[in-house]
Amino acid sequence: MVSLYRGTFSIVDLRAFAHNLRVMANRVHPETKLLVTVKANAYGHGVAPILEVLAESNVAAVGVASLEEALQVRQCGYAKPVLVLGSVGAQELPIAARHQIHVTYTDAWGDIDALPVMGSEPLHVHTALDTGMNRLGFKSIEHARVVLNQILNRSDMTWSGVSTHLACSDGPSDQHAAEQIRRFADMISQLRALGYDVPTVHASNSGGVLRNGQWHFDMVRIGIAAYGYSPDESVLPMPELRPVMHMYSSITRIADVLPGETIGYGATFTATQPMRVATVAAGYADGYPRVLSNSGKVLVHGQIVPVVGRICMDQLMIDVSNVSTVRVGDFVTLFGRAAPAAWTPEKWHRKPPEDRREWLEKSFESDSHGEQNVLSLSDVASLAMTIPYEMVCQINSRVPKLYVNEPNS
Ligand SMILES: Cc1ncc(COP(=O)(O)O)c(C=O)c1O
Repeated sequence: MVSLYRGTFSIVDLRAFAHNLRVMANRVHPETKLLVTVKANAYGHGVAPILEVLAESNVAAVGVASLEEALQVRQCGYAKPVLVLGSVGAQELPIAARHQIHVTYTDAWGDIDALPVMGSEPLHVHTALDTGMNRLGFKSIEHARVVLNQILNRSDMTWSGVSTHLACSDGPSDQHAAEQIRRFADMISQLRALGYDVPTVHASNSGGVLRNGQWHFDMVRIGIAAYGYSPDESVLPMPELRPVMHMYSSITRIADVLPGETIGYGATFTATQPMRVATVAAGYADGYPRVLSNSGKVLVHGQIVPVVGRICMDQLMIDVSNVSTVRVGDFVTLFGRAAPAAWTPEKWHRKPPEDRREWLEKSFESDSHGEQNVLSLSDVASLAMTIPYEMVCQINSRVPKLYVNEPNS
């Protein structure tokens, strides 16, 4: 067991992740395959434990951003298909083939006839069609045909998928995405009419899955919904999804502040009345955005209280003037469920550091009140002028992750 000394950590709820997979599987046709994106360390949740859940689920494949991430997935022992959604360099393609990693064609490959010969395993290639994102893929059938013919000519390559990516699947209107899907379906029909035996067709991200059942094709690629969030709560509310990550820190000091005193770097907050201010052991070096200076909110003793002053690298200050019960050592929720009542400063101090992790995990698992009292990540992200995707990705390795509700425990 790794010791816990600082009371700042995140909880990753693997049962919630498995639940979200089922919710999303129920939204698609039983024949439609599910690919889950685990890039960026599984959106910051830790790729190894997330892969363990995926390996046991009926998810068909995972998606990553780079060859490095794909190899990491294989090192974790994940045996099902892995697709690199970003670019893999020409010289690295034999490595992908050797590890049966599917890749997406990009112009960076240059002349396909001049690419290195793969080993005993063929290279699985997905070709993207650019239907309106202007990021990857062929804009015309003519271009697609030239490359496809070269790919099909090579005995060491297999054409395994054809994709597009939706730019606005979670936008206020579905017009842009609908137009992309129309173009995509049209290009697929043209390829079929030209005699191509089109392999797995995939287009929808979480937003596309939630928005329209006609957009699912043979496979969907979901990310954020699996981790518990709608891509945009205001457009596609998904109350049945359960947030997988919850972040906590603890209070290290409580002080009275008099009118006229300032708080934090730059003296950006001046007290206009007597206040009680608590210091919390988390800052921007943990991935808590500095932009939440004077605008963030945290949850303590069931109350939402404001961040005051600038977020420091390792600490932040909150106004607890209206929380009479608050004490040094109390846990605060930076986002997610309220800290379980069992997490008291006395218990934390009594536990040897090497036992704290298990104690926190077990008490989180048995806590039934936290779910009713939540500081939604979507709300915190919008205060930070960002999206839950970025928030969870940037909670970094300095913050220990505690895994709860593991499938085989
Ligand atoms: C190509 C591709 N497909 C699917 C996804 C998953 O998107 P989301 O997390 O919105 O479901 C991503 C994520 O950015 C992506 O880049």
